[in-house]
Amino acid sequence: MSEDQEKRHYDIQVSGIPQIPHVNFRVRELGEWVDTNTDTYFKGKKVILFALPGAFTPTCSNEQLPGFDKMADAFKEYGIDEIYCMSVNDSFVMNAWATDQNLKNVKMIPDGNGEFAQGMGMLCQKRDKCFGQRSWRYAMVINDGEIEAMFIEPGKTDDTAEDPYHESSPESVMQYLKDFKG
Ligand code: BEZ
Repeated sequence: MSEDQEKRHYDIQVSGIPQIPHVNFRVRELGEWVDTNTDTYFKGKKVILFALPGAFTPTCSNEQLPGFDKMADAFKEYGIDEIYCMSVNDSFVMNAWATDQNLKNVKMIPDGNGEFAQGMGMLCQKRDKCFGQRSWRYAMVINDGEIEAMFIEPGKTDDTAEDPYHESSPESVMQYLKDFKG
């Protein structure tokens, strides 16, 4: 195991990982509103959630979302029941993005009010791009509603031009599962 991996493990085990906030969502399905909440997605399952700054944006569309979708079968072998993509976007936008990406496995959670991102301490300003408030990029492994591991991109700052993408990639989450669950 590399020093980086050991350090990440230490961070995961020791630093104060937040509890998942209880949040209600409204999801558009087959022309109807469906009310969901965090229990709908996380209770009684082991899941990966990755959160990103915006639907249809380049890194999210070309790398992170399709990467998780393609690796879903490999994640299943490590006990992952569902993979969720969350963004501070409304359900219409998230559905259109899922269709555009021809998603097979990843399911969308529209955090339109940013309440989940805020509860996680991951809400940030992207006023410089006229995006308003968005989620910082991160991923988590969540086991029956408890955060087991977090993968947060470094340098969370408001209105930054930086958008690092490494920690929260599917490859990084897979490495954690292989190192500690394998
Ligand atoms: C991107 O995913 O490439 C991106 C995200 C937020 C703002 C601009 C670009």
